[in-house]
Amino acid sequence: MLCKVAAVALNPADAKLIDEFQSPGCIGGQDFAGHVVRVGEGVKRFKRGDRVFGFTFGLNPDDRASGAFSEYAAATEDLSCRIPSSMSFEEASTFGLSVGTAGFSLFRSLALPTHASPTEDCFVLVAGGATASGIAAIQILKASGFMPVATCSPSNMQMLMALGAVATFDYHSETCGAEIRNYTENTLRHALDCIATSETQRMCYDAIGTAGGKYTALNPPSTVVKYSRRDIYADSVVAWSLFGDAVRLAGTIGRPASHLDRIFASTFYPHAEDMIEKRLLKPPPCEVRPGGLEAIEKGIEDLRNGRLGTTEKRACLRKPSGNGIMRNICLWPSASSRKHNIKKFAVIRPSWKIEEFDLVIEYWLHDLNELKNLISDPEWTGRAAKDQALWVDTDKASVQIGYETLYLEEDGKIVNTEQK
Ligand SMILES: NC(=O)c1ccc[n+]([C@@H]2O[C@H](COP(=O)([O-])OP(=O)(O)OC[C@H]3O[C@@H](n4cnc5c(N)ncnc54)[C@H](OP(=O)(O)O)[C@@H]3O)[C@@H](O)[C@H]2O)c1
Repeated sequence: MLCKVAAVALNPADAKLIDEFQSPGCIGGQDFAGHVVRVGEGVKRFKRGDRVFGFTFGLNPDDRASGAFSEYAAATEDLSCRIPSSMSFEEASTFGLSVGTAGFSLFRSLALPTHASPTEDCFVLVAGGATASGIAAIQILKASGFMPVATCSPSNMQMLMALGAVATFDYHSETCGAEIRNYTENTLRHALDCIATSETQRMCYDAIGTAGGKYTALNPPSTVVKYSRRDIYADSVVAWSLFGDAVRLAGTIGRPASHLDRIFASTFYPHAEDMIEKRLLKPPPCEVRPGGLEAIEKGIEDLRNGRLGTTEKRACLRKPSGNGIMRNICLWPSASSRKHNIKKFAVIRPSWKIEEFDLVIEYWLHDLNELKNLISDPEWTGRAAKDQALWVDTDKASVQIGYETLYLEEDGKIVNTEQK
């Protein structure tokens, strides 16, 4: 579906994608709300003019047009919901990623039943209850008959209890996990960790009862903690799997294509729409910022620097303006940056020094004569430097002078170390 974007939400994931997985030429942004302006063939649940929010895969290296930070977003029917008339676009824009992540974690990864058994203890721990994903998870659990137990700062306890948590615990306490195990009388079997540091994972492991259970994290879990209890099955989710296609991001984030995850999304988002309509699922607190697309860079910088306060978990930018599609927030140096009229790099990684050239060729030479011989060698100019004038500015170079100390020779012999 093609949607005219009215508001977008900023997520920690936006900053992480920029910092860790540059995808030049792609559109950023995971969350939008707006109007449907055109539906594609086969779209059944929506029509032109509907107010919707949706989850988009911003900075997707496999689909350059899929992000939300744009005047028009290409939305996916299965990962979109109709917005009730009483809800603002800004509020609705906070739902797409958080609701999908919460549902995916609870019902696919932790494999909870859609309704809790009335005869069994049905505590579920939500570590990081005050995150956007945690707030969605608590409400979904409550609506499904579970008893959510959450960790948060004392200032958020009242809010989480009002949303459906049966108990809240301060994660700053060293005994937080033990306190939860005590409260749940050693019966806790399921934990969703929306923070997923080794500390929060350890706390969840302390909280899960002695019968063992399942732990799901929103970031890759620590293997050290994972193997501290073999009676706990640890998993981590990547919400982009909900699109059903392979997630081609490096490291532990990448995932193979999963048709079943897409099928789950196609049933869960309509369910979430129903919960939102019935006011069983409310948006997280958010700070609404003006400025449209131009304000995104600053918003992401604030997100990265933790400048969004505890009661302002989201920056929603309303009334996007600007010319055409906002391209890729991850910036690329020199010639490419000049071509795209990009001037600021510091916003991405303030400590990075970006060189004024495009290409790095590294040679380790013994003296300047060797360098002179190399660059005047016809073989070198014919091969390595072929066509260089088309794409390398040879006016500038960065030369580093130093020395190297050999410890391992090519044949594997160890040299130059202290013999004991
Ligand atoms: N895997 C995925 O697909 C996926 C999807 C969405 C998000 N994520 C990841 O999940 C994490 C949360 O994202 P989000 O957008 O939901 O977060 P968010 O809304 O930005 O969360 C901010 C809140 O985190 C809470 N917090 C910080 N440290 C905590 C700790 N040690 N224990 C408990 N709560 C803590 C704070 O709550 P208090 O104010 O109560 O201290 C803070 O208000 C991020 O790392 C994000 O990248 C992953």
